[in-house]
Order: sequence, then C-alpha cells, then structure tokens
Amino acid sequence: MTTIEADHRDGPAIETIALTKHFGSVVAVDNLSFTVPHGAVTGFVGGNGSGKTTTIRTLLGLTIPTAGQALVAGRPLADHKNPRSVVGAVLNRTGAHPGVSGRRHLALIATATGLPPERCDEVLELVGLADAADRRVGTYSTGMSQRLALATALLAEPEMLVLDEPSNGLDPAGIRWLRELLRARADAGAAVLVSTHQLAELATVVDHLIVLDAGRLIAAGPAPEVLNAAGAGSIEDLLLIATP
Ligand SMILES: Nc1ncnc2c1ncn2[C@@H]1O[C@H](COP(=O)(O)OP(=O)(O)O)[C@@H](O)[C@H]1O
Ligand SMILES: [Mg+2]
Repeated sequence: MTTIEADHRDGPAIETIALTKHFGSVVAVDNLSFTVPHGAVTGFVGGNGSGKTTTIRTLLGLTIPTAGQALVAGRPLADHKNPRSVVGAVLNRTGAHPGVSGRRHLALIATATGLPPERCDEVLELVGLADAADRRVGTYSTGMSQRLALATALLAEPEMLVLDEPSNGLDPAGIRWLRELLRARADAGAAVLVSTHQLAELATVVDHLIVLDAGRLIAAGPAPEVLNAAGAGSIEDLLLIATP
C-alpha cells in the first residue's frame, strides 16, 4: 500500500456533494451526495441507465459535472500529484491496444508511471493472467480482459479501487475470485467502490451500499441496515420497490 497521509484518512475516501450531470435534456446524475469509507467494500448499485458510470467517470475526472463536486481523498482526483497511486480504476474497456500483449500493455503503463518492471509480473500473477501474459490482448476473452483491467488498476498499489461493473463477463469462478480480491484489498485498508446492476453476484462481499435510481440516491449505508430499512430481502426487491 502507498503511504497514506493522515489528514485525508480522517475524512471519507470518496465523497460526492450534490453531484449533478446533464447530457442535454437527460439528467444522468441528480443532486447526488454520498460518502465511501476506507477499509470497506461499497457496492454502487442501480439498474441500467441509473447513473453509475457517469458518477464514476466524474470521480475519475473523465466527465465534468454540471454542478456539485466529486472528491477523492478530499479533492478532485486531478489535483493529486500521483492520481494512479490514489485510485486504481476499471471502466468498461481496458484501453489496451488489441495488438499488444497483456504484459506489454502493463509495461507501457509501468514505464510511464515510473514503476519497476517486476511490478507487472506481480499483478499478472495476482489476477491469474501469468500464463496468458504474452498473448495479444485482442485474443483475450471478456473475463481475461476484465482481469487485465484489474491488473492495470492494481499496478501502482493504489489506496482506493473504483470498479465499474467488474463482474461483467466473469464466469462463476471468476466472480468468486473477484469477491476474494475485493475483500483482501478492503481488509488491507483500501476503499473499494464497485458498481453492479446485479448485486447478487457481489452481495456476500459488500459492507456498504449506495443505491441509485434514475440518477438519484434512494438508499445508502451499511448493507444490512439498507436492506432492513427497505423491508426488502434483497437489493433487487429494493430497486423494484423504487421503480414499480
Ligand atoms: N455521453 C453521454 N451522452 C448522452 N447521454 C449519456 C451519456 N452518458 C450517459 N448518458 C445517459 O445518462 C444516463 C445514465 O447513464 P449511465 O451513467 O451510463 O448509467 P449506468 O452506468 O448506471 O447504466 C442514461 O440515460 C444514459 O443514456
Ligand atoms: Mg454503466
């Protein structure tokens, strides 16, 4: 883990304050305020189009908010000296060129970030891609691409992970492996924010929940409390209650 400054460990790892994003007449994110704690797995849950990706892109500085703020360790991610060591991110695409190998993809980022080349082998091992490391990324299955995206996120040993639907394309063994990885990172002190439109896949690993519907916050807090307060047996029930 990277050394974490005491000052920002005192506050939430991630915070949005009245975050709003319009795309023309579409309100993708609507006055959204939430916090994500350190040392826990937080599930960011909502149906398709509920605003999860837009919120995550705003946190990563890839989308400019219409109003409000998205803060990581107390400030916009772009204001950090080494953003990669603050947040490791997985978006829906790896951004890897299909013609390069997984190892080469990681090596390019390691060089650009000033990380030792050995770190690439460590993360390839960690995500179970060591045997496929020298294959071209274009030949990877969806699950292997997700693993490479996670390897990229973990490369700089970030203090937080922000993962957009990382279970998409993983088989049951891959989903179990993902849960164990998220648990281990959170137990090591990382803030882990993981979005999903199918909480069932991650239900046993999430400590906290943030539930979105149509860009708005409909529930947030410790997972058992959120579920109890809704009187729902599962988050899918909660979402169905919200959007009959
Ligand atoms: N670049 C964009 N241009 C226009 N509309 C967008 C754009 N990105 C997202 N949206 C819209 O914003 C809403 C939220 O989308 P998104 O954040 O991708 O939701 P989720 O990730 O929860 O499925 C949807 O209505 C979507 O169509
Ligand atoms: Mg999405």
